[in-house]
Amino acid sequence: MPGPLEVLPVADGVGLPWDVPVVDAVAAVADARARYGDSFVVRSGGHDHLFTFSPTGVESFYALPEESASKGVADYLMLRRKLPDEVFAGRRLLPDALFRRDDVSSYLAHLDRALDATEAELGERGSADLFALTRRLGHRMGLASWAGPGCAEGELFERLVRAFDVLDGSDAFVHPDAMAAVAASEKRAERAALDDVADVIGSAVRQVDSGTVQGGGLFGRIVAAWAAEPAPVRQRGIAMDVALIHVASMSNLMAALGWALVDLVEHPDRALRVAAGDADLAQRCALESTRMAQRSIMARAVLGTVAFDTGVGVVDVPAGWTIATLLPLLNTSAAPDLGHWNPDRWHRHRLAHASALASPMLVTAFGHGRHSCPAQPFSLAAMTMATTRLLGRYDLTPGWDRHPRPVPAQIGGVARSAGVCRVGYRTR
Ligand code: HEM
Repeated sequence: MPGPLEVLPVADGVGLPWDVPVVDAVAAVADARARYGDSFVVRSGGHDHLFTFSPTGVESFYALPEESASKGVADYLMLRRKLPDEVFAGRRLLPDALFRRDDVSSYLAHLDRALDATEAELGERGSADLFALTRRLGHRMGLASWAGPGCAEGELFERLVRAFDVLDGSDAFVHPDAMAAVAASEKRAERAALDDVADVIGSAVRQVDSGTVQGGGLFGRIVAAWAAEPAPVRQRGIAMDVALIHVASMSNLMAALGWALVDLVEHPDRALRVAAGDADLAQRCALESTRMAQRSIMARAVLGTVAFDTGVGVVDVPAGWTIATLLPLLNTSAAPDLGHWNPDRWHRHRLAHASALASPMLVTAFGHGRHSCPAQPFSLAAMTMATTRLLGRYDLTPGWDRHPRPVPAQIGGVARSAGVCRVGYRTR
């Protein structure tokens, strides 16, 4: 029989960074875990959160049914702190419709061309902020893949980059401490950026309508989904579909690529092998850097009472609660040797020695179970292509003297670097 939640300890004085000032959000939950054990309640901002870290608790977490404990709703509640509601309402093509087999090959072809443009911008030698470089690369690849003709070049591209940098939904978990100001401004800057996106995408739609250019691929599918609507509804709807897809895609991939490059720059022997075309190693490096850089809060919004096994008993968690776990408290500490970067621990997409863990679900780069990332094969292929090309063309020298740190307040997604992460480069 499930028991009452009162058996779980409540972490007194612990709040989440959206609600109270917290210097290091992950450290705050880690402290609570050290004091209260593997399952405890955090009451923050008028909401109750059950955090769980035990092997059984984490397995129960990944097994939760979407109907009663929803990832979709939890994501929406997170992202709406930053993004205007219009981005979510009435979407016809969602980010989970992005990964049909032929889609992936077209995104990779766009990435190849985006890398050409990156190399042209970099020239033969200089220095660059690695994370700014990968972010710009991601914008270019993404916008070429789904924003319509002309949107990945010239002034249209620069306008969209400026708008999407304001409209970056990942701010909700990378800079949770900034969300009160976003709310106080009633998302004024974000709404203006959205109008700018709509303006640029609208011109791409008009070009396709006039027959001067072709609008195939994912953009073509988005346009087709709105075919029956009157012009203003249609243009705005297409632009909002593009906006949500681009915001969702920006979130993790290019930050993870940044860390893969950081780690490879710090391991020149591996970097040389990747540069020489060892794709299997490049993929294992991508997985390993992503594992180490994970700052994800994995959350499910409870919609109807669920019986949840924490490992020390089953409790009834009522609607309105959130059940969560935090990857940075598991990924590098669930077994003794996980604290350092070692791509050889991966065999294809799996940890080679997962049996050494109390549960294989305690460590992950792309998630477990029904909600695991549909973009994993694409993301690994993209990171493999980008690291191979950039390291093949450039000799990179780190401009940092200690391993870059994540943004301390960040609680979600792949870490963003707290500071500029400068690297010197020259062509090989
Ligand atoms: C290195 C890059 C990426 C990492 C590390 C990553 C990580 C993850 C993780 C850990 C989850 C599971 C979350 C959970 O269970 O709560 C997830 C789900 C998801 N990811 Fe990714 N992701 C990446 C790239 C992408 C990209 C590029 C896209 C899309 C453009 C994407 C779209 C999604 C979607 C739609 C889901 C939800 C699936 C579902 O609910 O069934 N991801 N991702």
